[in-house]
Amino acid sequence: MSAHETVVHDPVFGGVVLAKLEALYPQYPDKRSLLLPALWLVQEARGWISDGSITEVAGQLGLTPAYVRGVVTFYTMYHTHPVGRHFIQVCTTSPCGICGAEDVARALVQHTGCGDLGATSADGRFTVIEVECLGACGFATPVIIDDDFIDSVTPERVPEILARYP
Ligand code: FES
Repeated sequence: MSAHETVVHDPVFGGVVLAKLEALYPQYPDKRSLLLPALWLVQEARGWISDGSITEVAGQLGLTPAYVRGVVTFYTMYHTHPVGRHFIQVCTTSPCGICGAEDVARALVQHTGCGDLGATSADGRFTVIEVECLGACGFATPVIIDDDFIDSVTPERVPEILARYP
């Protein structure tokens, strides 16, 4: 792309996605309360939440883009850049850390081929990030893959677990 070309943002809120958002309105007291579900709709449709989508969500809900961005960047489950087909979150906070979470994170990075935490594998299959306490400190090491919660993960279990996510 040349320096003079501009990126045209293809609106996410149209057709089915807009219909889904509008169907949610009656379930909430006001539009701003729909922020989290609206962001999920964007991520479901696009795989991640771009600056353009943040502006769109703000427009739909009567919020400022800065407010929406603050929420998007607060939660690790919202992606601010493209990620792999399967999104892996591993807890490395101290209680899990002393139970070997760093070794689990290393095994995940190694077996996914991601190369580093936060990176995506070359085949686009996986992204691995480390996150703060997942509220399952008694089941170290907990890992979330997409919508699945998996407890007591060890480095040895990693290949078998990853095989479930083609
Ligand atoms: S510290 Fe890992 S789940 Fe709480």
